[in-house]
Amino acid sequence: MYRGARPIGARRRSRRAHGGELRIFNRLGIAGVGLIGGSFALAARRAGLAREIVGWGRTRENLDVALARGILDRADVRPEILGGADGLLLATPVATLASAARAASSHLAPGAVVFDAGSVKEVVVAACSEALAAPARFVGCHPIAGNELGGAGNADPELLRGSTCVITPVAATDPATLARVRRLWEGVGMRVIEMAPRAHDELLAVLSHVPHVLAFALTSLLADGEGAVHPDRIALAGPSFRSATRVAVSSPEMWRDILLSNRDAVLEVLARFRGAIGELAAAIELGDGAALERAIGAAGARRRAVERSAPGARADEVRVDAAERGLRGTARVPGDKSISHRALLLGAIAHGLTTVSGLGEGEDNASTVRVLRELGVRIESEGAVARVHGRGFEGLREPTDALDCGNSGTTMRLLAGILAGRPFVCRLDGDESLRGRPMRRIADPLALLGAKVETASGRPPLTVEGRVLRGTRVALDVASAQVKTAVVLAGLQAEGRTVVSEPGSSRDHTERLLPAFGARIERPEPLTIALDGPQSLRGCDVLVPGDPSAAAFWIVAASLVPGSRVLLPGVSVNPTRTGAIDVLRRMGARIEVLARAPLGDEPVADLIIESAALSAHDVAGEEMLRAIDEFPVLAVAAAAARGTSSFRDGAELRAKETDRIAAMAAGLTRLGVAIVERPDGLDVTGGRLGGGEVESRGDHRIAMSFVVAALVAEAPVTVRGADAIAVSDPAFLETLARLRGGAP
Ligand code: S3P
Repeated sequence: MYRGARPIGARRRSRRAHGGELRIFNRLGIAGVGLIGGSFALAARRAGLAREIVGWGRTRENLDVALARGILDRADVRPEILGGADGLLLATPVATLASAARAASSHLAPGAVVFDAGSVKEVVVAACSEALAAPARFVGCHPIAGNELGGAGNADPELLRGSTCVITPVAATDPATLARVRRLWEGVGMRVIEMAPRAHDELLAVLSHVPHVLAFALTSLLADGEGAVHPDRIALAGPSFRSATRVAVSSPEMWRDILLSNRDAVLEVLARFRGAIGELAAAIELGDGAALERAIGAAGARRRAVERSAPGARADEVRVDAAERGLRGTARVPGDKSISHRALLLGAIAHGLTTVSGLGEGEDNASTVRVLRELGVRIESEGAVARVHGRGFEGLREPTDALDCGNSGTTMRLLAGILAGRPFVCRLDGDESLRGRPMRRIADPLALLGAKVETASGRPPLTVEGRVLRGTRVALDVASAQVKTAVVLAGLQAEGRTVVSEPGSSRDHTERLLPAFGARIERPEPLTIALDGPQSLRGCDVLVPGDPSAAAFWIVAASLVPGSRVLLPGVSVNPTRTGAIDVLRRMGARIEVLARAPLGDEPVADLIIESAALSAHDVAGEEMLRAIDEFPVLAVAAAAARGTSSFRDGAELRAKETDRIAAMAAGLTRLGVAIVERPDGLDVTGGRLGGGEVESRGDHRIAMSFVVAALVAEAPVTVRGADAIAVSDPAFLETLARLRGGAP
């Protein structure tokens, strides 16, 4: 046993109390504490899946690292350390899995479950089953995750989360064991799929094994006739060469074993590959441009499909390579999310038909449509058009269940203002991120009008018990368009005059839209709205302009990628939303704003962006407020600009879909950018961006910002949690693919 084991064990004990109900194993053994074994152990410990985790490995050095990092409770180079384990992960190199199984077998507890993490399944499942005393309790597994790094020192508790684990049961596999192993992988955050061992191997030959062979082979082009590699030639290696050969630095022993263990499938796929290369070579030789164009077009479509979701790829992550040339073309941004929410909600409480065109098609706006339907509102929707058949405030019905607002804070907060005056009780809930967001800011001001809104210690779920409301004066202590709007929506139902004032100017879409619905509101002084209630609204047609917050990603992307020229038609240039344009212009961005006819009371323009060298700029005060949703992508702009930019007065960013200051600080640091995190912002020193893996933390704007960063990074960037992008712009990655391929 190792010294140092005890303190680690002691520290972990307190955590077990939380994970007790999830525990699957008493003593979990890990044979082979490398990247996968170590990452699995860290994640299993975090999730409370085992009371104790012990490791058996080849070298003391690596086990010492694992102990020091708290990956294991105890470790040794002899298999006796596994004594009494009721679960064992075999995570040694593929060729040694069966011998490891044999050596461990006699030390395990009776009935122990054994599973592996090898990338080849048919020979492994057969050999391990034969090596074990109880073959029925062996389950072949392949967690499809990892990188070119190895060893316990690189283990990461997040490595497996969101990836797919293939499990390959055979006829003899015990069903209870299978279920237990499935629960285990799911417990560390993986998506589990079942497949026959042979089918797995054929698929992996295409998706992983042969691509490795190609990377190994491609690097041979760097050597001259004598096998020497000249540094001056390599210095010119572009992003395409770098991304195509990234995995060439993988472990030689590991890949020797994988390729030999999956020999048949690998050879067959290599033969197909030779055919494909031959066809391209023939087209080049014949000068057949049309055939080449077809082949490359088809390849692009397949590659894009891989980005979206390939078997074995993580559905929620995207790997983005640097742009090899400028972004060119037109990017249509979705309808403004804030205006879309308001048009739907006002339509629902108005009398008669409201037609909303250009509606945002993201999940947040869909959440508003869904909850309104659950409140009895008839809404016909097709693409970007929704027809809302409002029957006034009185038309809303008590829902049968809690209303799920998804990720959308605007849906929840605005709806609370409407429901505050309805004669029923309603619960409003949302996803994990929304459940973490502050709601007292809504409950307290609404209470001044007589509303009863209960929170769970200041956060969702909300319980809104409808009351008769009375107009009053409300002075908000945060500048928040959501809170301001919630009070206005309650005020429309209240007896008497409601006057709401805010400490700074937040977006004013509610004020601009209400008159179109026949509401009478006044703005007696800046930052103040007054209205006399109750009022009844009538339906109208709303044309929603493009979302300036969605446009900001393209403005930054086109500014940063040299040789870009992008047109963004029909974007809202409401002055409460154009902070990012002002900031970027001051940084040197070339943004042409061509005014168009307004849509209703919303000013609209076509924007043309051309690439430009950016320099640092400080963002604070009112400008920060006007660019609050664009902060993540402005931080990316700053990371690629010359000099140090500071962002201040953005403490509010910590209460958005995630703590956006912390999320950007962590991700940009990961990409090698010099960052100083402040309570209310960041200092960002611009320079070169490196590659790596970054986390969206479930936040759409963080995910899209890092996709933009990747376009100018020196190595590919993997954005985890990229599925969050659909919250506001589901077509974002497709638009990017189009702009990348745009004609110069
Ligand atoms: C929104 C207001 C802003 C903004 C959010 C949408 C709105 O939040 O960040 O994305 O539609 O009212 P605040 O309520 O904090 O202003």
